[in-house]
Amino acid sequence: MRRAFAGLFLIAGASLAHAHGDVAPQPVNTDVLPEVGEEWLIENPYRDQGEEVWQAAIEIGDSGYNQNCARCHGLGVVSGGLAPDLRYLEAEEYGDEWYVERFREGYTQNGITKMPAFGELLGQKAAWAIRTYIETRPDDGALDDHTPRLKEIRDTLNGMADGGDGDRAALLAELTAIAAEVETGSGAPVADSVAFRAAGLIDSDSPDYAGAAEALTIGLSAAQ
Ligand code: HEC
Repeated sequence: MRRAFAGLFLIAGASLAHAHGDVAPQPVNTDVLPEVGEEWLIENPYRDQGEEVWQAAIEIGDSGYNQNCARCHGLGVVSGGLAPDLRYLEAEEYGDEWYVERFREGYTQNGITKMPAFGELLGQKAAWAIRTYIETRPDDGALDDHTPRLKEIRDTLNGMADGGDGDRAALLAELTAIAAEVETGSGAPVADSVAFRAAGLIDSDSPDYAGAAEALTIGLSAAQ
């Protein structure tokens, strides 16, 4: 499962480059996510269904968000000021209810559509996948203190990808410890940071060192 997701990271990364150009709503493939029924929920159903569902929701939400929302709300959910910064909507029923209302209805002021309605176009599963991605964004500057060390780890991982020496278990423990310190703006307990992603990629019998190094490279350059 993990390695399938690693491929999706790259696709999501590639989509970033085009995010500002997309205007027509982009369909989101949500087939792997559990069904949520016809009736619109008011609380994120993918938040507490176990790690696999949660991680799949983040992957799908990453791509869905960056194709449909980023041009107004900012790449990686960091607002450039055109529209509200969504990272701070509380990851609980109150924030969810507000989120899903805006998602479904959009926002029109004095006859001008400021935000299109996405409910019919993208559907409920995509709505909650995008919600899961949004609420797991790291807070501003959350990795700053760790950036020098993460760059060293990145270089070590690159060496290991080429057959060089390195202590996988120690790096995994260190990345996991860094990931645990990263806070979200929404109050969700776990942030989907680059440290978290890199740890996931080497936490396996066939660790993906090159993928982990690349996740760190992309994340650290985006944070700059
Ligand atoms: C064309 C620009 C545009 C796009 C695309 C867009 N939004 Fe918005 N969005 C806005 C604006 C502008 C507001 C502020 C409306 C207001 O004043 O309440 C907003 C508000 C919101 C809010 C309420 C935030 C708050 O703090 O009150 C949510 C949630 C939201 N958008 C989610 C999304 C999601 C999810 C997507 C993608 C599926 C999306 N938006 C796409 C422009 C956009």
